[in-house]
Amino acid sequence: MFNHVVFRILSLTLVLSAAQAWAEPAAEQGVRQVQEIINGRCALCHGANGESASAIYPRLAAQHPQYLAKQLRDFRDGRRKSETMSDMAQDLHDEEITGLAAFFSSKPAAARLRGDQELAAVGHYLFTKGNRWSGVPACTSCHGDKGHGTAELPRLAGQHPAYIETQLKDFNERQRTNDNAIMHSIAAKLTELEVKALSIYIGGLQ
Ligand code: HEC
Ligand code: HEC
Repeated sequence: MFNHVVFRILSLTLVLSAAQAWAEPAAEQGVRQVQEIINGRCALCHGANGESASAIYPRLAAQHPQYLAKQLRDFRDGRRKSETMSDMAQDLHDEEITGLAAFFSSKPAAARLRGDQELAAVGHYLFTKGNRWSGVPACTSCHGDKGHGTAELPRLAGQHPAYIETQLKDFNERQRTNDNAIMHSIAAKLTELEVKALSIYIGGLQ
């Protein structure tokens, strides 16, 4: 309900600022429009520079642009389900999505503090070696030695542990439905302890 009201107000602000932008030269419009979308919507949860204030909102700073753009299109087109993000992305044009992805990916990822060191050590083992007794592959084999990912694979390093935990749970329960074949089979094999340990370790990676 609250989100809905906020979203209405934000939409109105956007319409007003879009009308204002009309009078401006075309070259500046694209850039400012993206900045307006960020200030008017995204910053509320993800921070003005992609450093989310709350652990339930993923960090967008330093994430790969192709991955960000794909997720935004998936939210918009209903392939990835999230009430909040479907609302946020529903009226975004492809061009705006490209601009938003470019903006957030260009922001540096701030350093994070590590949580419980013993748990992080378990996480380090799993992240780099997997669990051969239960058939979990090393996360590094796809997400890279330091979790920096590639154009098609998301960066994990420094992501909020609470968000990582939710995503692993969602992959496991098939709540996250876009491209989840690989991550479903991995998340389904993780115990609760392993999910915690991995999330804490990942949150401390730079
Ligand atoms: C009201 C809070 C809120 C606002 C405003 C918001 N988001 Fe989100 N965003 C979320 C939440 C919550 C998630 C996690 C969704 C999930 O669990 O799947 C998310 C996820 C995302 C993701 C996926 C990240 C990943 O690592 O997979 C992207 C990209 C994103 N948001 C971009 C944006 C952009 C761009 C805007 C502005 C147009 C925006 N968000 C506005 C709450 C918000
Ligand atoms: C075989 C390749 C592969 C391996 C191994 C792998 N992943 Fe992934 N992972 C992916 C792909 C592909 C995606 C993107 C899914 C999408 O686009 O929805 C992903 C997405 C994720 C996400 C969501 C990130 C976000 O920003 O929303 C998390 C969290 C994650 N993986 C954690 C892990 C962990 C922890 C491990 C090790 C236990 C692991 N992955 C091993 C391929 C892999």
